[in-house]
Amino acid sequence: MQIKKICCIGAGYVGGPTMAVIADKCPSIHVDVVDINKKRIQKWNSPNLEELPVYEPGLKEIIKRCRNKNLKFSTSIKEKISKADMIFISVNTPTKKKGFGAGKASDLKWVEACARQVALYASGHTIVVEKSTLPVRTAGVIKEILNECEVSPRKSHSNKTFDVLSNPEFLAEGSAINDLITPDRVLIGGDTQIAIETLAKIYQNWVPNEKILRTNLWSSELAKLTSNAFLAQRISSINSISAICEQTGADIREVSKAIGSDSRIGSKFLNSGPGFGGSCFKKDILNIVYLSEYFGLPEVASFWESVVQLNNWQQHRISKLIVRKLFGTLSNKKIVILGFAFKANTNDTRESPAINICKDLLEEGASLVIHDPKVCSEQINFDLKFESTNNFEEQQNKTLIEEGNWIKENDLSDSFKDADAAVFLTEWSEYKNINWDDVYEKMRKPSWIFDARSITNPMEVRNAGLNLWRIGDGL
Ligand code: UDX
Ligand code: UDX
Repeated sequence: MQIKKICCIGAGYVGGPTMAVIADKCPSIHVDVVDINKKRIQKWNSPNLEELPVYEPGLKEIIKRCRNKNLKFSTSIKEKISKADMIFISVNTPTKKKGFGAGKASDLKWVEACARQVALYASGHTIVVEKSTLPVRTAGVIKEILNECEVSPRKSHSNKTFDVLSNPEFLAEGSAINDLITPDRVLIGGDTQIAIETLAKIYQNWVPNEKILRTNLWSSELAKLTSNAFLAQRISSINSISAICEQTGADIREVSKAIGSDSRIGSKFLNSGPGFGGSCFKKDILNIVYLSEYFGLPEVASFWESVVQLNNWQQHRISKLIVRKLFGTLSNKKIVILGFAFKANTNDTRESPAINICKDLLEEGASLVIHDPKVCSEQINFDLKFESTNNFEEQQNKTLIEEGNWIKENDLSDSFKDADAAVFLTEWSEYKNINWDDVYEKMRKPSWIFDARSITNPMEVRNAGLNLWRIGDGL
C-alpha cells in the first residue's frame, strides 16, 4: 500500500514536530495536521515563525521549508480524515481527575472521540496509528470502535476497512527534531504485516531498517510506558542518593560519574536535580500503577508508585532547605527563580518542579522574581493558579513585589537586585556564564545561591562571597 496522504489529529508537542519531520523527509507525502484548538492552529500558521506554539531547536527551519507545501495545519478535521490513507492519533491523554482510577488512570475520552470521528469520516482502507502514549490494550478499544463501523449493517454499502498500529513516540522535548531525525529506534506494533511494513516504509526514507522494531500491538504499548518508567526510575534513584551525599560528604556528580562508567549502567539520565517534570513520566508511571492494581499486582504497583513519591519528596525537600537556610522565614525576602520550564530548550512547563517549589515558597511568604527565557508570564500565572487580591497584570507592573506574590523579570542581571537568594531550577545555557562578582554587588547580604541543576561553578560563586548550596554536595 502506498501512502499519499497522512492526517495527524493533535497539533501538540508530539504531533507538530513529528509530522514536520515526516513531511520534510517524505516530499511525496502530503501531511495534514488537524486540531480542535483554533488558536493553536493559528499559531502553527503564523507568518512569524517565533510565534509557533511549540519551541524546539530546528523546528522553525523545517516549518519554513514545508509549510503550505506538503505540510498543512488546519481545523478541518472531518475533511482531512476523509482524504487520508493513514491517520495518526496524537491527542493528549491526561490523568483522570475523577471516577474510577482517578489520579492514576489515563483519561481516554479524547482518544475515543478521535476513533469515533475516524470511524465516521474515513473512506476506503485507512491505517490508524496510535501515537499518543496509551495504557496497554487501548488499541483494542480503537479497533472495537472501528470494527463496529466496518461490520455495521446500516453501513453495508460503505467500503471502509481499517488497520490499527501502535507507533509510540520517544522524542524528548528540547531535542525533539534531533530525536526524530536520528532515533535510537522506531517501534511499530501491529497484527497485520502489510500495515506494519507500510508504516515502516515511511520511516525507511531516513531511518535504517535495522532500527525499525516490529512487535505485536501490546508489546509496543507496554514498551513505551516501560521506557518512560525506567528513565524516571533512574532519576528518582539518583535523586535519592543526592540526599545521602548531602549528609555524608560525598558528591553526587562524582558518584554519578563513577557508576555511569560501568557500561552495564551507562552514563545517561544520572543527573540529580529538582525532580523530573514533563507531561509523560508521572502520567505513564501512574498508568503502570493503575494497570498493576487492576491486574491484582499490588507489589508491582507500590514499587512504581514509590518512584513518583520520591520525585515529590525531592521537590519539597528543596523548598524546605531553602526556608531553613534563610533563617526559617521567607517573609520580606526576595527570591529569584532561575528557570520555570521543566527542562532547558523548551517552553513547556507541564509538571515542572518549579511549580511545586514556587508554590511552597509563596506559601512561606516569599516575594518571587521569576526568570525564564521561553516561558511567558501568563503560563506561569496559570501554573501557579495564583489568586491574588491584586490583579495579575497590575502586580506585573509593580517594582515592589508584595509578600507571597511574584513577578516575571526578563532581564537576567536585573533579577538579582536586592534579592536574598537565587534558585536554579532549569539548566538554561545562559545561566552558565553569570558574573558572580556583579551578582554579589546586587544582592542583599547574606546572599544565598541554591543550585538544583549543578549549573554553577562552585569556586566562582563562593569566591565572590556568596553562600552556595548545590544538589548532592556534601561539602
Ligand atoms: C500528547 C500526550 O500527552 C502524550 O501522552 C502522547 O504521547 C502524545 O500526545 P502532546 O503532544 O505533548 O502529547 O500533547 P498536547 O501538546 O496537549 O497536544 C495534544 C493536542 O491534541 C492539543 O492541541 C489538543 O487541542 C488536541 N486535541 C485533543 C484534538 O485535536 N482533538 C481532541 O479530541 C483532543
Ligand atoms: C521523556 C522521554 O525522554 C521521551 O523518550 C518520551 O517520549 C517523553 O518523555 P521529556 O519529558 O520531553 O521526554 O524530557 P526528558 O529529557 O526525558 O526529561 C524529563 C525530566 O527529567 C526533565 O524534568 C529533566 O530535567 C529530568 N531529568 C532528565 C533529570 O532530572 N535528570 C536527568 O539525568 C535527565
